[in-house]
Amino acid sequence: MWPIDNGKGRKQQPNKSTILSRQEITAIESWISQIGIFQFYITAGQLVSTARKTLKFKYKMIGQGFNRVVYDLNNGYILKIALSEVGLISTANEAYIYNNCNEEVRKDLCPVKEHGTGWIIMKKVDTKVPFAIKEYRKLIQLELKFIRHGIIPIDLRIDNVGYNENDEMVVLDYGLFTMDLKNPVLRWFV
Ligand SMILES: Nc1ncnc2c1ncn2[C@@H]1O[C@H](COP(=O)(O)OP(=O)(O)OP(=O)(O)O)[C@@H](O)[C@H]1O
Ligand SMILES: [Mg+2]
Repeated sequence: MWPIDNGKGRKQQPNKSTILSRQEITAIESWISQIGIFQFYITAGQLVSTARKTLKFKYKMIGQGFNRVVYDLNNGYILKIALSEVGLISTANEAYIYNNCNEEVRKDLCPVKEHGTGWIIMKKVDTKVPFAIKEYRKLIQLELKFIRHGIIPIDLRIDNVGYNENDEMVVLDYGLFTMDLKNPVLRWFV
């Protein structure tokens, strides 16, 4: 059922896209095949620049975390690409959670458009979160809502939320959320 290979013989996602070109998919596949090679002897900054040099994308990089690099596709969507094994798992996990969660909480997640091994395309959201108590209160309410719906919102913090077109807070990084105790995210950490 779990769509990630991770070198351990489980199934890969087919890398098909209606947005990315064949050349872009090939560049992503080439980068993903190198994950793990550099990780332990270069810095996070060097890892991002190695990924960017391999990918050679025309798109603007609009974000980076510890595990993914994020490009603006200029069509209302963003593309996240894994930089690490955790990034690979996070990407598959976001697609799984978005497609399998309760409808009530799906509207609190940044919508997933397409995904493959180590990459995911999501709606672009506004990431400028005002530094105000009100927003932190919304974040706590969101956290409680996920828990009520059987989702453990691991790593839910202000850097991982944004606002959709209706100005509602949505989670843009739910790669470490988990819906059950058999989830690979937990297996990864335990
Ligand atoms: N849907 C989106 N719309 C706009 N910007 C986004 C979106 N998703 C991610 N970003 C930007 O890219 C940054 C990194 O993305 P994300 O948090 O998913 O990466 P990560 O490597 O999983 O992060 P972490 O370091 O928290 O593990 C975000 O903090 C945000 O600024
Ligand atoms: Mg993040």
